Amino acid sequence: MSNNSMQVTLQSSGRSIQLKNPIVPASGTFGDGSIVNSLYDVNQLGALLTKSITLHSRQGNPSPRIYETPGGILNSVGLENKGVKWFLEEVMPFVLSLHTSKWISIAGFTVDEFVELTRAINPYEVDAIEVNVSCPNIHKNGIQFCQNKDVLQDTLHRVRKVTDHFLIAKIALETNSLSEILEVIQQEGFDAVCIGNTIRGIAIDPISRKPFFHQIFAGLSGPAIKPIALRVVWEAFSSHPTLPIIGCGGIQCASDVIEFICAGASAVEVGTMNLVDPFILPNIIQDIDTYCTNHEVTLSSIIGSSHRSL
Ligand SMILES: Cc1cc2nc3c(=O)[nH]c(=O)nc-3n(C[C@H](O)[C@H](O)[C@H](O)COP(=O)(O)O)c2cc1C
Repeated sequence: MSNNSMQVTLQSSGRSIQLKNPIVPASGTFGDGSIVNSLYDVNQLGALLTKSITLHSRQGNPSPRIYETPGGILNSVGLENKGVKWFLEEVMPFVLSLHTSKWISIAGFTVDEFVELTRAINPYEVDAIEVNVSCPNIHKNGIQFCQNKDVLQDTLHRVRKVTDHFLIAKIALETNSLSEILEVIQQEGFDAVCIGNTIRGIAIDPISRKPFFHQIFAGLSGPAIKPIALRVVWEAFSSHPTLPIIGCGGIQCASDVIEFICAGASAVEVGTMNLVDPFILPNIIQDIDTYCTNHEVTLSSIIGSSHRSL
């Protein structure tokens, strides 16, 4: 098998992106990629995805910010970043110098903020914008944008209007209306969905008997959430087989990636495990190549294949 066996295409009705392999770092767990680039050439990744950028600079949440759980972590980073102006000046030149697919993640706290961020990124030659609609909407009591159909529709509609870039909606794993959300994503001309973000959890300090985090809730990620993320990818592929899916949640090795692809994902994002092993992504890519050779398959031929075996 040649390297082409790992190529995948994210193909919507209007746009497409070809990736040399399906492995992408999940937003917020890889910085802007420049530090990792001093350890290995990040151009070998399927795409580089940057940490979510907000309109204004944010200090993030007070510490503590990380709590280890069996098989995962809870994080309460709170989207710390220096804002889009800084990003465009300091990070964008590095991103544009890469020769792999270049993806930028944006996070707004109002619909207008999402639109402004998209306008700011639009002039640059990046390959995709990942719109993190799993952040809290300050105009709707902090409910995530993707949890209210009307707000989600308004957000995606207005973002789509100001750019022709390939757009990915990153949604929460916790939802009672997945099919409705995916319907909106497709109707509003988004090109792919990323499934998904962390799952809300809590930790309590048994000595003080108070919540461990100032914000009480924090986001659970890592291997502990993989079966849930895989289930949501499965359901999304069942109901919306023509919407490209990027699976994310708990991936730690090549066989996890194969599971996500067989469930219906065309690509995957790996998050928490980058914090455990900075070389995890190139190792996974190597192991997937070996898998394709040993099993004489191309990845694109097995997307959603577990559904066909029923
Ligand atoms: C420390 C940390 C920071 C994160 N920051 C972001 C972020 O800025 N934007 C975003 O969309 N997701 C963010 N996430 C969520 C990840 O991108 C990913 O969706 C989630 O961790 C599930 O994948 P995993 O189990 O492989 O980590 C963050 C996760 C962690 C652990």
